[in-house]
Amino acid sequence: MKSYIFVTLAFILAATAASVVKNDAKYIIKDDDSPDTDWWKTAVFYQIYPRSFMDSDGDGIGDLQGIIQKLHHLQDAGVTATWLSPIFKSPQVDQGYDISDYRDIDPDYGTLDDLKELLELAKALGIKIILDFVPNHTSDQHEWFQKSVAKEKGYEDFYVWHDGKVVDGTRVPPNNWLSEFKGSAWEFNEERQQYYYHEFAIQQPDLNYSNPKVVEAMKDVLRYWLDFGVDGFRVDAVPYLFEDPEFKDEPLIDGCTDVTNKNCLDHIYTKDLPPTYDMIYEFREVLDNFTETNKVDTRVMMTEAYAAIEKQMLYYGNADGTVKGAHFTFNFGFISSLSKDFTVDDIVNAIRTWIKNIPDQYTSNWVLGNHDNRRVATRLGRENVDGFNMLTAILPGVMVTYNGEEIGMEDGEVTCEEGYDPQAIKDCSTFDQTSRDFERTPFHWDNTPNAGFTTGTPWLPVSAKAKDTNLADQNVEGVSSHYNVYKQLMEFRKNFQKTFALDTTSAIKLTDHVVQVGRYVDKDEFILVFNVGDFEEIVDFYRTKQSYKVVVTSVNSLYKPGDSVDELTLLPHESVILQGF
Ligand code: NOJ
Ligand code: MG
Repeated sequence: MKSYIFVTLAFILAATAASVVKNDAKYIIKDDDSPDTDWWKTAVFYQIYPRSFMDSDGDGIGDLQGIIQKLHHLQDAGVTATWLSPIFKSPQVDQGYDISDYRDIDPDYGTLDDLKELLELAKALGIKIILDFVPNHTSDQHEWFQKSVAKEKGYEDFYVWHDGKVVDGTRVPPNNWLSEFKGSAWEFNEERQQYYYHEFAIQQPDLNYSNPKVVEAMKDVLRYWLDFGVDGFRVDAVPYLFEDPEFKDEPLIDGCTDVTNKNCLDHIYTKDLPPTYDMIYEFREVLDNFTETNKVDTRVMMTEAYAAIEKQMLYYGNADGTVKGAHFTFNFGFISSLSKDFTVDDIVNAIRTWIKNIPDQYTSNWVLGNHDNRRVATRLGRENVDGFNMLTAILPGVMVTYNGEEIGMEDGEVTCEEGYDPQAIKDCSTFDQTSRDFERTPFHWDNTPNAGFTTGTPWLPVSAKAKDTNLADQNVEGVSSHYNVYKQLMEFRKNFQKTFALDTTSAIKLTDHVVQVGRYVDKDEFILVFNVGDFEEIVDFYRTKQSYKVVVTSVNSLYKPGDSVDELTLLPHESVILQGF
């Protein structure tokens, strides 16, 4: 089946790029962020999952020396910033998101000296290092928690404690609040004879943000790492910082009756509480003070919040930009709104929803995956890997890449017995649906045993797919590979960064199966056409009399960079970036 499309919009858009048309029913054109080009505004933030990136000492666990060994990979890829999932002291109940000492490195990953070494090398290579800041909860092994349990002076209210209720002579939790990791969010502590609140695992007690001492202690953690020399923070689980001080029961969502099902409760008392945003603005002040006092490059903050779009935007700051929050809050639109059988409409809507909601002065960002979600190649199809990397590369602002996306890595194979995800291993019967271990298996460096990740026994099994999908095979000049496409995209972004800081964006459904994303500034025009369907599609530009030069193509494409085209035949799942001339 072939369909013929006449693209007239591109010409009109190119001609009118300076005059901004907003909220058009068919497509969106919008002024991008402020024209200044601070380093982070057009950066690619590459997420390293340290435990699975590279193991230097053969214990089967990735570590800081491993990252040091492989830092040139980021440079080779063209990436200039990386955020590391937690490397701090931790019993590893939630793979490092349960921190027992915010100021030290877990021996699994190395030492403070290793981190120093990494920062120095990164600086020499021009790569920014961002750490994961986990403010909502600590490990139950943290000394603050131990002291709080013992009601030591100054620590009594560091966590969220409650006597609970007595029902029919039995003590029960104070309310119906549920943990993200299933079951009641309250755990009784024998020593203190009270319940403590934990949004996540039992071993992850929530800090009490209505206690100014907690706030100060956490700001000190930020200052400690800023002084250490890091370039910023990814801030974990921010919607959960505050809980309702009256501990009221959460209401059931309409039509739902199961109070033991987290999805049945409306989380008005445990999530997105109004003081949350002010807390983020306060954290931002700590960063800005450091940047100003020390006259250094901007230290950035990116927040992790799965929330309604209007709430997400509040993390950026207030609408007129006078109060600042996160430099950006992760845009999870391509994760939350696209499923296996996504359509062109879904992509266009995800883009438009974000762009319509983000105030003009803030910087957009685009995320395809992370350590909490199935890998994009598995979720949205490995044949679409290049198309999605192109989408996030061409869209305005920051691009976020989860390690492995540059080579099109799919999820690994893990059994419940081999898995570690605390919420999933509780119940093996649902492990396949709930576990996050699949997207956390070791990186595929090459096709030697254990994919070059470790000489020991990997903490999670290395995927059998490493034989066919690995960096060494893909990183060969002239070879058609996801990695070479990714490198070209990084080059493309670098070359047109300035242009992109000023331009306008459109997202259009060309046909049921072809999405077009355009970027326009003055006479420059770049478009991505991405065929998400299983049939050939023809895109022609006769009516606009516009000709295009091919800039980047997907692995299955027959076009080559530099080709001139005024018509394209897109193969199934082919994607091409073009420059108008
Ligand atoms: C979000 C992190 O990304 C996830 O891995 C973790 O389990 C929770 N926050 C709790 O810290
Ligand atoms: Mg909390």
